[in-house]
Amino acid sequence: MSAGYLSVPAGAVHQQELSTDTAIRVNDLSVLVGQKALVDNVSLTFPHKRITAIVGPTGSGKTTVLRAINRMHDHTPGFSVKGDVTIGDIDVYSPDANLRVLRRRVGMLFQRANPFPQSIQDNILIAPKAHGMVPKNGSRDLCESLLQEVGLWNAVKDRLGGSPFMLSGGQQQLLCLARMLALQPDVALLDEPTSALDPGTTEHIESLLKGLREKVTILIVTHNLAQALRISDEVVFLMAGKLVEHATANKFFHDAADERSREYVSGRIG
Ligand SMILES: Nc1ncnc2c1ncn2[C@@H]1O[C@H](COP(=O)(O)OP(=O)(O)OP(=O)(O)O)[C@@H](O)[C@H]1O
Ligand SMILES: [Mg+2]
Repeated sequence: MSAGYLSVPAGAVHQQELSTDTAIRVNDLSVLVGQKALVDNVSLTFPHKRITAIVGPTGSGKTTVLRAINRMHDHTPGFSVKGDVTIGDIDVYSPDANLRVLRRRVGMLFQRANPFPQSIQDNILIAPKAHGMVPKNGSRDLCESLLQEVGLWNAVKDRLGGSPFMLSGGQQQLLCLARMLALQPDVALLDEPTSALDPGTTEHIESLLKGLREKVTILIVTHNLAQALRISDEVVFLMAGKLVEHATANKFFHDAADERSREYVSGRIG
């Protein structure tokens, strides 16, 4: 197959084989509405300290898989989940699973920034305070270091008590990223986090994600194959709720095993 515009992902780990250092294990996962499977018997592992892109046509189940990993379908009417998900030592669907620990260790970021209707500072501090993670008299330092980390400090340092809704869309998303990082998650689940943002902010967030890879296992749903190519180490390709292929980014984009993957990469389907 002609790779055309595709080149080896910049900054990606060029492993030829899938990593065996597993952070998240998904086993025979199905998500059903009534009898209909939105996700159909998917088994996957996601490696530690790597970025895995989840790609596939619209409606292929990417968001549904991501949400299932974090037990976010518990309260969706009519949904049932079968199978197992393990994140580190947490058996996510066990009746004994500690959801408080799960919520601390797994961060999420969505397509639309969703700041809390509280001050910029409280958006950052509310969760770490609830988890006893803010040192005495350390709130402002924590705020500053997180806002510095995402590159938002200079824009907001004079209005920490102000509303996040006065920020631009991209700034709101950076605030949500800082809020996510405040809990020092082991895993970040990102659902098209840059698809509403301009190219400059997208590039900024991509470079932050590449830097985070050292400490966080990142799963990113994206429609943007060029983005998957730029930042991912591994790629999971779904179609109609089924796993088609899981490969290193290098292999997926240049020498995918499944004909449907090759068609998707070439733009013939999707
Ligand atoms: N509450 C629901 N009831 C019935 N079907 C649903 C529900 N939510 C999602 N679906 C269906 O589940 C399938 C998978 O949806 P999902 O949102 O996971 O797709 P996706 O791959 O994330 O798509 P997109 O790229 O458009 O975001 C779709 O066919 C969708 O219509
Ligand atoms: Mg989706």
